[in-house]
Amino acid sequence: MKHPTIGRRRIFAVGSLAVTALAAAVTVTLLAGNAEAASTLGAQAATTGRYFGTAVANGKLGDSTYVSILDREFNMITPENEMKWTSTEPSRGNFTFGAADNIVNHALAHGQRMRGHTTVWHNQLPTWVSSITDANTLRSVMNNHITTEMTHFKGKIYAWDVVNEAFADGSRNHRSSVFQNVLGNGFIEEAFRTARTADPGAKLCYNDYNIEDWNAAKTQGVYSMVQDFKNRGVPIDCVGFQSHFGSGGPPSTFQTTLSNFAALGVDVQLTELDIAQAGTTAYSNTVKACMNVSRCAGITVWGIRDTDSWRTGENALLFDGNGNKKAAYNSVLSALGGGTPVSNPPTTPGSTGQAGALRGVGSGRCLDDPNSSTTNGVQPQIYDCNNQANQRWTFTSGGALQVLGKCLDAYAKGTTAGTKVVLWDCNGGTNQQWRMNSDGTITGVQSGLCLDVSGAGTANGTLVALWTCNGGSNQKWTRS
Ligand code: XIL
Repeated sequence: MKHPTIGRRRIFAVGSLAVTALAAAVTVTLLAGNAEAASTLGAQAATTGRYFGTAVANGKLGDSTYVSILDREFNMITPENEMKWTSTEPSRGNFTFGAADNIVNHALAHGQRMRGHTTVWHNQLPTWVSSITDANTLRSVMNNHITTEMTHFKGKIYAWDVVNEAFADGSRNHRSSVFQNVLGNGFIEEAFRTARTADPGAKLCYNDYNIEDWNAAKTQGVYSMVQDFKNRGVPIDCVGFQSHFGSGGPPSTFQTTLSNFAALGVDVQLTELDIAQAGTTAYSNTVKACMNVSRCAGITVWGIRDTDSWRTGENALLFDGNGNKKAAYNSVLSALGGGTPVSNPPTTPGSTGQAGALRGVGSGRCLDDPNSSTTNGVQPQIYDCNNQANQRWTFTSGGALQVLGKCLDAYAKGTTAGTKVVLWDCNGGTNQQWRMNSDGTITGVQSGLCLDVSGAGTANGTLVALWTCNGGSNQKWTRS
């Protein structure tokens, strides 16, 4: 389909709320057991290790119908407009993150993960940027924008759309944009390198539309770029397929496209799915294409109710204007029940930049921040692995293990067996640095002690602490 024209909508800047206040007000939502596993999009996707997300507009977080569907069905959020350049750096060096912070805080308080969208894009770009003609100026403006924005949200973003829509329709080449015209072909690579340094824990994605058909020139152009990046070691972890489809749904080659990209060694994600008239077959074909590709990590729809969609009058989403489930909802829910489990590249407990669950070998349960608390001093426990943000640990280049923006910390710099392990504000201290060992153990850099499931317990809620390394399976961890 023709890509709809981008219109500018009003963006509401709402002051950010304290995460702790929100977290305290929220009861535990993570205890949903298996009985519920098949009844919502997010829970159903999680049964194969995938996520199901939606675009969220900050201005709608006061709408109770909207928020109740959001928190019931979705475990990944992309800000619809709030992380774009016009929203985050409206004038040079003036960074405004309030509206995006509000969405991120909502996600943290409700166990949802975040996709960051987007740092470098020719649309929703302020004219002070698009009018730059000097390459050195633009290079430093672009890199500063990426670095400042990604640093602001560091530790809280699962994947970033580092560059959005850089290729021209009907062509293998980049489109005309200020970045292309002033910096040349290398701007995409430069943006990805800058992004990796800014937040090594986030997956870095290239995101585009009309790249779903394997036979399209544009698809081939993006494929060649990703192949080249992989060959030369340019950091890229994922490709986002926007999936704004006409009423016929995805092209017949969509699954082929997803698996061919995945074979290059990147995750693939459906990032902005909507389908004119929301046909049940069109939707289920789309979902199945992802479910059949083991590196298809998840699906995000571009809004909740038809009335929330940027595609006015096209009835393109899964809920009607009243918030009722449409027929397409049921076809998506059932398609999410099939397919192959998600697979990621083989891992040890952690290499730098890696984010994901840490599963205890002895218990089979995952290292978990109880109730997604971000209060200093909370003690991590083991709990049923549920693929939620409070079980997603990022191992940073500084050796920290971060969850929900907090760092795993040997309490009061203790170095004796039995020292509590807590979450604390990240401060770079040696008691917040960890070594991932090839035998699966995780040792504190300051103490040399091992991260140990107390008493070799296996029950939900068993705490972890530091203990003398002894080779036990309660001291071994795998990434999952
Ligand atoms: C759209 C938003 O949904 C609208 O609210 C806004 O007016 C324009 O942008 N590709 C993208 C998204 O990457 O950011 C766009 O979102 C839709 C097309």
